[in-house]
Amino acid sequence: MGGLKERSVAAILPAAGSGQRFGDSKNKLFSSLNGDPLWVHSVRRLAMRAEIGRLILAVSEHDLGDFQEQASSVSLPLPVEFVIGGAERMDSVQRALDQIDTEGQQSWVAVHDAARPLVSADDLDKVFLAVQQTGAAILATPVSGTLKRELGGGLGSETVDREGIWMALTPQVFRVGLLKQAYAKHNGRPATDDAQLVERLGHAVQLVKGSAENLKITFPEDLSIAEAILNRK
Ligand code: CTP
Ligand code: MG
Repeated sequence: MGGLKERSVAAILPAAGSGQRFGDSKNKLFSSLNGDPLWVHSVRRLAMRAEIGRLILAVSEHDLGDFQEQASSVSLPLPVEFVIGGAERMDSVQRALDQIDTEGQQSWVAVHDAARPLVSADDLDKVFLAVQQTGAAILATPVSGTLKRELGGGLGSETVDREGIWMALTPQVFRVGLLKQAYAKHNGRPATDDAQLVERLGHAVQLVKGSAENLKITFPEDLSIAEAILNRK
């Protein structure tokens, strides 16, 4: 089985957070990484792919002007479409998803954090290949550390078996209709990623082993790590 058809994927990049943990006065996504805004790296890695036909960025009303200005000064193979995101990441993804027609040219949707600038071409190949089998596939990496659960009440901790435990990454790729169905059933119940909503439908989500270097920039030190990885390559 080959990869996905050209332009058959709509990419959604949630970018409407405010970067509280990063702690800068402006959105962390505007921080410079090797001379370009962090978000531009994430968008470019997807835009370069033949499979991607649309790029939809969910941004906050506050940041829209800056995003538009920065988008106009970089050259990308695809135009960036902006939608206004919501209070939670899920709301932002939902609003972008509303722009995608089930009967349209894109039958797949790839949700990718704008804060993950290092996703590799190899990992994109793998997840785009895998999704054809089940209609839902996500990049993930096996947990390597020892996991502890705090017991509370002065009882200390216990060790959690890490066998079969993975950390979810992005992109998370789905058939458009499947993700729409999952979001329609969401009803505000908390979920920390898109795949969780699909799991709730009882639909299998395939884990595709990706590189742990596909890190999400959360704290300022993550930016230095990302820079080191970029400059090594
Ligand atoms: N995001 C979004 N809409 C929100 C919250 C987050 O689109 N209401 C986006 C962020 O912009 C980011 C991605 O979801 O690209 C992952 O979220 P996270 O890393 O938590 O970013 P922030 O929410 O901005 O950071 P923090 O949680 O530290 O405030
Ligand atoms: Mg957040």
